[in-house]
Amino acid sequence: MTSLGLILLSSFLCHVVIAGRTCPKPDDLPFAVVVPLKSVYEPGEQIVYSCLPGYVSRGGMRRFICPLSGMWPPNTLRCQPRVCPFAGILENGAVRYTTFEYPNTISFACNTGFYLNGTSSVKCTEEGKWSQALPVCAPVKCPPPPVPKFAKLRVYETSSGNNSIYRDTVGFECLPNYAMFGNDTVTCTAHGNWTELPECREVKCPFPSRPENGFVNYPAKPALYYKDKATFGCHDTYVLDGLEEVECSKLGNWSALPSCKASCKLSVKKATVLYKGERVKLQEQFKNGMLHGEKVSFFCKNKEKKCSYTEEAQCIDGTIEIPKCFKEHSSLAFWKTDASDVKPC
Ligand SMILES: *[C@@H]1O[C@H](CO)[C@@H](O)[C@H](O)[C@H]1NC(C)=O
Ligand SMILES: *[C@@H]1O[C@H](CO)[C@@H](O)[C@H](O)[C@H]1NC(C)=O
Ligand SMILES: *[C@@H]1O[C@H](CO)[C@@H](O)[C@H](O)[C@H]1NC(C)=O
Ligand SMILES: *[C@@H]1O[C@H](CO)[C@@H](O)[C@H](O)[C@H]1NC(C)=O
Ligand SMILES: *[C@@H]1O[C@H](CO)[C@@H](O)[C@H](O)[C@H]1NC(C)=O
Repeated sequence: MTSLGLILLSSFLCHVVIAGRTCPKPDDLPFAVVVPLKSVYEPGEQIVYSCLPGYVSRGGMRRFICPLSGMWPPNTLRCQPRVCPFAGILENGAVRYTTFEYPNTISFACNTGFYLNGTSSVKCTEEGKWSQALPVCAPVKCPPPPVPKFAKLRVYETSSGNNSIYRDTVGFECLPNYAMFGNDTVTCTAHGNWTELPECREVKCPFPSRPENGFVNYPAKPALYYKDKATFGCHDTYVLDGLEEVECSKLGNWSALPSCKASCKLSVKKATVLYKGERVKLQEQFKNGMLHGEKVSFFCKNKEKKCSYTEEAQCIDGTIEIPKCFKEHSSLAFWKTDASDVKPC
């Protein structure tokens, strides 16, 4: 240290001893103001801390006097935010928040099927009160649904007076002769409206024509409508190919139009065949011909291996193809062994 430095330092110390020390600018305290705020205070000067609006003081003195030492006494004062009433629970909804302290904002949302009756967010004010009334989640309601033309209600139960709530359903049915297009059930949505209504349209079917070699019955009415029925039958030796009863479909045609199929005359005079798993004599079982659709298995011989196997034949609308491997013996050739008596391959 130089001698000049020493001189300056000692003159400074002399001054302090005589006049007392000044206090510096007081420490900043979060959320508080100091009055008066200066950069230097003479000993004996007074300062007062006060908390900002929305904050309350806790745990310490607010008033200080600059002492002769020039050092502010330790300050234990704290300014803490005001806390608004608990608002963390919203029935049928949820609250988003960090804390309920000034100056925070909290927000609300309702579960699906509920709507906010009230504000979507509130702020904790300087007074420690919420800025607005807290909202509630009210159930979404659907007014009674309109009934589509030519339809009537099938099921209608209300959950809430005359109204329905989210997920309630209402069912419709069409008046006779009308067919439904769309879903017969509508549901109250979370928007408070109903899912798409079905439509009922009048559906006519043409009179079904009589099948060849058969007949058809249907109601004696000027016109045939959706769900009307017709029944079919065949004259003897003919067989119906399809269901006996058919229905007028919503597309305006019959669910099916069966036809009558001819039975088969057999060219084979005599044979043992398999019919429904049983050995039968063809000439006896099918004396009156074979009905359309029926199947038999003929026995054939494998000459090399000296054994027998079967081949199937089916009567299709008057025609049956006898398997080529089948050999009919003349009734005179009594010494020949029939294929049906040879051991199976
Ligand atoms: C919505 O809130 C207001 C005010 O709190 C109340 O009068 C009203 O009944 C509520 N509506 C429903 C549907 O909850
Ligand atoms: C339902 O509606 C009927 C007729 O509109 C009315 O008389 C009745 O008071 C209503 N009921 C409720 C609970 O709102
Ligand atoms: C009709 O709607 C109900 C509920 O709205 C739904 O469960 C059902 O799957 C729908 N049916 C058809 C055929 O779309
Ligand atoms: C119901 O309301 C919602 C929202 O307003 C809309 O998007 C939807 O198309 C409506 N549904 C029907 C079937 O009208
Ligand atoms: C009925 O008509 C519809 C549309 O014309 C057609 O797709 C359907 O195959 C018809 N059904 C019968 C059983 O003919």
